[in-house]
Formats: sequence, structure tokens, C-alpha cells
Amino acid sequence: MGTEKNLIVIPTYNEKGNIKKIIDEIFNKADGVDILVVDDSSPDGTGKIVEEIAKKNKKVHLLNRTKKEGLGRAYVAGFKWGMSKGYEKFISMDADFSHPPEALNPLIALCDDQTVAIGSRYIRGGRIVGWDVKRYINSWGANFVVRLILAIKAKDATAGFKCYPLEFFKSIDLDAIQAAGYAFQVEMLLLAQENKFKLKETPIIFKDRVTGESKISGELSKSAKLVFKLFSQKKSVRQFVKFAIVGGINTLVDWVVYLPLRILLQNLVSLDIQLIRQIAKALSFVVSALSSYYMNRKWTFASKEKKVAVEASKFMIVAIVGLLINSAAFYVVTAYLDWIEFYGLVIATAVAMFWNFFVNKNWTFKK
Ligand code: GDD
Ligand code: MN
Repeated sequence: MGTEKNLIVIPTYNEKGNIKKIIDEIFNKADGVDILVVDDSSPDGTGKIVEEIAKKNKKVHLLNRTKKEGLGRAYVAGFKWGMSKGYEKFISMDADFSHPPEALNPLIALCDDQTVAIGSRYIRGGRIVGWDVKRYINSWGANFVVRLILAIKAKDATAGFKCYPLEFFKSIDLDAIQAAGYAFQVEMLLLAQENKFKLKETPIIFKDRVTGESKISGELSKSAKLVFKLFSQKKSVRQFVKFAIVGGINTLVDWVVYLPLRILLQNLVSLDIQLIRQIAKALSFVVSALSSYYMNRKWTFASKEKKVAVEASKFMIVAIVGLLINSAAFYVVTAYLDWIEFYGLVIATAVAMFWNFFVNKNWTFKK
């Protein structure tokens, strides 16, 4: 093909039965590509085989690493090597024929300077062949959880067959990738999404490996932990936690301020005690809402908005509507569903908190 420089990066660990065949198939099926095999000194001699091929074929390269450090680390090393050689698109691919070489051309075509392309098992036309039910459920479940908690907008969020543009690697720090192993795939998609790259999918038929063995099973819990770490690092999750803490503190403020306010009012005006209580309650709500506003402005959302009065008013509106939602939810749970009051309290608080958080995040403190 033309001037495009595409590099296929294949990490390998004990793939002597696959590596020569997959390299041949890639050159049969894909146009304008070079191949870099990143081998972690496989004991079965995969590296040696690649070394021999590379001597005869200038399009094949070997990056030999001294020890097994995981799939993610191998990819990072491979991508950095490719960047230093001036490649423009980078395809991640397994050695074991699970990623069909005939899907390379469409995958590369889908990838551009604003788009990460994904060879997808979970869109129309894509599927998995040769997995038992257990492995299928594991993979489907992992994908479901990842998409849910990290909000990744791709149908196949754990896919390993992808094409990244150089622009994406330039926009991130490859050395800061946290995942050493399989969670790498997820972390890369999350980073792409956060850096405003589009994710586009092309269907693939994923076939289970014929020779050699998968290394994923021993790494599942490690990868799951990393996914939860990525979740806890998400900006919106951190904001939500801060928002909840601010909410807790200001519930205390509300309680602490109420009594002195009531006593003060009682000494100032002569009204019915119930009415005085209502007024004191309303005032303590306002005090705690304003103090909430201040803490959320400074801490949770770090707002630089100049029109503080407008921002504070919006916050108060949200808080008042939140209070109505709180009461309504409590009513629905206790009177309508006839559940016990404690559930009513918990559900009503949760519903109101989510409402307050999302509207404040996307309206009051929207940048
Ligand atoms: N260099 C190196 N170092 N390569 C490794 C390592 C490692 O520590 N671990 C695995 N590999 C290589 C394998 O030799 C193979 O070429 C490729 O990475 C994928 O490994 P498999 O063990 O075959 O993975 P899998 O089939 O279980 O998982 C595939 O599907 C997952 C989604 O279901 C991969 O594509 C995953 O990335 C993907 O998430
Ligand atoms: Mn595999």
C-alpha cells in the first residue's frame, strides 16, 4: 500500500506452534503492514523462531524482553518501539489465531487520527467460536461489569484486537499505564474515551486457540482488582464520594444549628412553638445548604465560576427540589409500596443524593 506505516504488535509467551503461521497469514491477508513480536524470553524458543524470520524479512521485527512481565507491559514496550520508528497506526493482536488476520484490513481502515478501532465479538456479525459455556460466561460477565462501572462506550470493552492511531499515544503517557496484564485492554479504552477519541467497532469471529495455552485464567483476580482501581480513580466517582462526605457533614451542621436557632427565635418573637420549630428547621436547612454549597464549590467541583450568586442560587434550587424528591420517595416507599420506614429513609436519601449530585454536576457546576 501507499505511504501509511502500520505496525502489528504481537506479544508472545510460548507460542512456538503459532508464531510462524500467524506471521505468514498476516502478510497474506493484510496490506502495508510491518510486524513486531514482543517476546518475554519464552522458554519454548518462540523468540528464536522470530529471529530467524526477521533475518530474511525486513518487515518482521523482534523485541526481546528478559522476563515475563505481562501482556500490558509487553504492549507498552512494543508501542514505544514503534513510535521511535515512525509508525502511524498500531494494531494489537494475539499470536494464537483468535484474532482473524482477514479482519486486519477493515480494522486498520476504521482507525484514524481521532478513532481507536476495535475488533469486536459483541456486535452484529461478531461472535466467539470454540469456547465452553464457563469461559463464555466469564468473558461476557467481565465485559458487562467493565462497561457498567467504567462507562466504556464500546460493546466489546475487553477486546484485545485493536488499532490505535499515533495521535492517541501522543496524548497519553504510556509509561503511566497501570495494568501490567490483561486489564491493559480496558485501561487503554478508558484512556481513549477520556481523551475524546472515538471508539468504533468492526465485527470479528474470535476462535479459541488451537495450540498452546491461554495465560488469562491465573490473572483474572489481578485484572478485576485493577478494574476496580480504575473505577475508584474516575473523576466522577471521586466527586461523588466527596459530595457524599459533604452531605454527611452538613447533615450534622443542620442538626447542630437547629437548636440555638430555635432558642434564639423563641426569645425574639412570640409565636406558637410549632411554628417556631418550623421556621428554625427551615433556617437550619438553609444554613446547611449554604455550607454544602461552599464545600462543594471549593472541594468537590473546584469551581472557578465568577457569578457566585447565580451558582449558589442554582445550588439552593437543586437542594429544595431534592428535599421534595426525598419526601416523595419516602412517601412512595412507606405509603404506596407499604415497606418499612427504615427502607423508606434509606431509599429516599439515596434517590435525593443521586438527584442532587447529577444535577449539581451537570448544571450548577457545569464548566
Ligand atoms: N510478551 C508477553 N508477555 N506476551 C504475553 C504474556 C506476557 O506476559 N501473556 C500473554 N501473552 C501473549 C500470548 O502469547 C498471546 O499471543 C497473547 O498475549 C494473548 O494471550 P492469551 O493467553 O492467548 O489470551 P486470551 O486468549 O486468554 O485472551 C484474549 O482475549 C481477551 C478477551 O477475551 C486476549 O486478546 C486478551 O487481551 C483479551 O482481553
Ligand atoms: Mn488466546
